[in-house]
Amino acid sequence: MAFEILKDRILKDGKCFDGGVLKVDRFINHQMDPRLMDQISKEFIRRFADLKINKIITVEASGIAPAVMLGYHMDLPVVFAKKQKPSTMADMYVAEATSFTKKCDYTMIISKEFLTKEDHVLFIDDFLAYGSTGKGAIDLCHQACATIEGMGFIIEKAFQNGRQILEQAGITRIESLAIIESLDGGQIRFAR
Ligand code: G4P
Repeated sequence: MAFEILKDRILKDGKCFDGGVLKVDRFINHQMDPRLMDQISKEFIRRFADLKINKIITVEASGIAPAVMLGYHMDLPVVFAKKQKPSTMADMYVAEATSFTKKCDYTMIISKEFLTKEDHVLFIDDFLAYGSTGKGAIDLCHQACATIEGMGFIIEKAFQNGRQILEQAGITRIESLAIIESLDGGQIRFAR
């Protein structure tokens, strides 16, 4: 089921760019609307209510705001994968990801201290596009023998097929609050 408040906001403030990119920097990933983030996190809580989770994982930078808001409401720790190795980090898990949207490769790094085999993880991010970031998170959790219970995205671009990539990697629970079917011709069309 779509989340109407978010769909309305995407239609009002989102902008389409060539190459299937949706700009949401007025309210999600540059300027942020904390009240909307709060509503988003409560919708994630509703959708994942049946899961037993003890940790939220995301990736810097744009995943942090929704993840930390969710962690606040669920009273759970939030860990974000870093893209640069901190000089003080000794033991870590490292995964590689390719950003098809930004056309670059990057690493995802989590300290072994903050991801362990005891963890039942909910992964949160702003976009599900080609699924590369999500696959990197799956890789990190596999290395730590942690369990991914679910993955939640604010916006899914269904035409880039990231959901299939994550399902093929074994994820059975994916929730996206707004699913976009097409951005063709500069028009935002939702799947439902
Ligand atoms: P993925 O998110 O499914 O892995 O797809 P992709 O590899 O293409 O995404 C790379 C980066 O681009 C991700 O951010 C993702 O959130 C962002 N992204 C994907 N599609 C869109 C879009 O339509 N609009 C905008 N604004 N961003 C998009 P990132 O590189 O992980 O980091 P950051 O931007 O959060 O720092």
